[in-house]
Amino acid sequence: MNNLTAMKGIPVKKVERSKLQDIPESIPFGKYFTDHMLEADYENGEWKNVEIKPYQPLVMSPSAAVLHYGQSIFEGIKAYKDKNGNAYIYRPHDNFRRFNISAERIQMPAISEEIFIEGMAKLIELDKNWIPDREDHSLYIRPFMFATDEQIGVKPSDTYKFLILLSPTGPYYGAPMRIYVEEKYTRAAPGGVGYAKTAGNYASSLFATAEARRKGYDQVLWTDANEHKYAEEIGTMNVFFIIDGKGVTPDLSTGTILEGVTRDSAITLLKDMGVTVEEKRVNLDEVVEAYKAGKVTEIFGTGTAATISMIRELKYKDTVMTFNEDSWKIAPEIKRRMDAIKNGSAPDIHGWMYKI
Ligand code: COI
Repeated sequence: MNNLTAMKGIPVKKVERSKLQDIPESIPFGKYFTDHMLEADYENGEWKNVEIKPYQPLVMSPSAAVLHYGQSIFEGIKAYKDKNGNAYIYRPHDNFRRFNISAERIQMPAISEEIFIEGMAKLIELDKNWIPDREDHSLYIRPFMFATDEQIGVKPSDTYKFLILLSPTGPYYGAPMRIYVEEKYTRAAPGGVGYAKTAGNYASSLFATAEARRKGYDQVLWTDANEHKYAEEIGTMNVFFIIDGKGVTPDLSTGTILEGVTRDSAITLLKDMGVTVEEKRVNLDEVVEAYKAGKVTEIFGTGTAATISMIRELKYKDTVMTFNEDSWKIAPEIKRRMDAIKNGSAPDIHGWMYKI
């Protein structure tokens, strides 16, 4: 093992030749992966075999529990570089906390901060040259965990794998979006797993999204499972409405909405901008009324992958709400402030940037 070196406790096996030069300048989301990955195993009640090694396929049993019942969770985080070439991870401790909340919800073991945060930092340090410099580009970080027991009985696995992949990436949604308000299919119901970042939540979203695409829309706005009249999330994002100059977003008390880190950043930045924020159940009939009275000026989604994504059109029942994003003031200002903190051109007053 010629290239095996110890990196602050985590063994590192480096690639012989980097693939970095094969990456196009404008990078689609999630299609390219860096030279290395982190891998760890959970066995006999403890995490072990933590290592950083060349990105490579996994060998696993066809009876691995994850392939049958989907015991699997993930996170999405981003790393950036400032103009001096220093690398930073955006709010990784928030994702660490949420990862373990997701783990608990589907009977998986917690991961330690040492593996999740320090392992991630070591991995990024090694593949730091992969952090793109281009505007709206970043290094997307994908930690995930899945069940590896070779058994097809329905029960929590006794063994798991945890991995971190890094993917240099461009924008997730290229342009302002057209959204269909979904009143038949449901993303999450009270008592379910909507607040957790389980793989299954995303699998179960695919059908409704495909239906919306067939109708000519980019994504759906999910509504509550009982009455289909309260806004929940947009596609893979949290949703914000600017109504009468206030920021309005669904509150988290139903347990059906993911506690987005970018959602929290947007709320904080709105308050910094002097905009009142209301977290509450958002009745779409009331949104339509406010729209007709000229009070709804912006609708946007927030997410790690998507950052801030403007909504150009929202169709709810017979009403099509349209917006001209060129005249928007608030969402572009949130994005501007967030980008400035991320690229180091504004002070990190909220302590969001974790220096590697
Ligand atoms: C993220 O925003 O990081 C997400 O998890 C969405 C992802 C499914 C692309």
